Amino acid sequence: MSPVIQDLKKKLEEIKVQAREALESVEDVQALYDVKVGFLGKQGVLTQLMKEMGQLPVSDRPQWGLLVNEAKNFLEQVYQERFSELKSKELMQKLQREKIDMTLPGSVARVGKIHVLSQVTEELVAILSRIGYALRLGPIIESDFYNFEALNIPADHPARDMQDTFFLEGDYVLRTHTSPIQIHSLEKEKLPLRVVGTGAVFRCDHDISHLPHFHQLEGLCVDERISMADLKGTIRYLVENFFKKNLMIRFRPSFFPFTEPSAEVDCQCPLCDGRGCQVCKSSGWIEIGGCGLVNPKVFSKVGINFQKWQGFAFGFGIERMAMIRHRVDDIRLFPENDLRFVKQF
Ligand code: PHE
Repeated sequence: MSPVIQDLKKKLEEIKVQAREALESVEDVQALYDVKVGFLGKQGVLTQLMKEMGQLPVSDRPQWGLLVNEAKNFLEQVYQERFSELKSKELMQKLQREKIDMTLPGSVARVGKIHVLSQVTEELVAILSRIGYALRLGPIIESDFYNFEALNIPADHPARDMQDTFFLEGDYVLRTHTSPIQIHSLEKEKLPLRVVGTGAVFRCDHDISHLPHFHQLEGLCVDERISMADLKGTIRYLVENFFKKNLMIRFRPSFFPFTEPSAEVDCQCPLCDGRGCQVCKSSGWIEIGGCGLVNPKVFSKVGINFQKWQGFAFGFGIERMAMIRHRVDDIRLFPENDLRFVKQF
């Protein structure tokens, strides 16, 4: 072995030891790479040695090349091993950092509820649908004709004062009751008919028991032989099924321009079963709405032969039904949507 090669061998051994130490002492992938470049890169020690080969006697060149290459491969291998070691260490650290404690309590998703007024409405409509009533909705903005005229409430009629109307531009109003739905049905549908209407109504009025924006349930039944007895039976059926109790109802004579005769409906107070309590002001009775037989004048307005057809209609306050059923003592709680209130139903 020529002295040149012997020298080289010694030198390579030193380089290997140095390089291995350097590679093993760094702690991150970038630094590791920098070390590698120091030995194997373009300006690296081993690359330099390779270049020196050109100045050697031809006989020494193959051995020289072989040895330098071997050293290169060795370093490459050490580098690779260290590289995977550091990579998995980094991964472990990352997993450690991002560890999730699956046993911690999660955040609770709050589930919404159907508003109590919607619940009550849906239930009332469902009860009536079992005896053949079909649901009808109408517009909230009505013309004077549907809200008043067709219901036999002519202009200047004192009954218009009963209704504290919000007037809109032109001939329009915010409907003051759901009775216009009766007219829409009578105009469009075939007789006999049974329809239940519902929705928001508006009156310029508010205190502990009145809101400017509230809701009504409207019933209309038209057939060839309809009497007050049918009306009373229907209302009794509705009330008993809604309050789930045998409750008496009573009619007090009243007046509505669109019904004749007309009555105010009271039902036995479902909270005290008629014995008298705070809610019914010790009377044992609670007023729930108005009703009557369809006034023949209304039939005439929409071109229905009142000699042949009769009908009954009733209108209940939905807030009122909800207040009685759930013992709510302030109507203003319904539109407030305070979750502490809404969640109770
Ligand atoms: N529309 C009347 C009101 O709001 C209630 C009613 C409806 C009365 C149907 C009789 C018949 O006061």
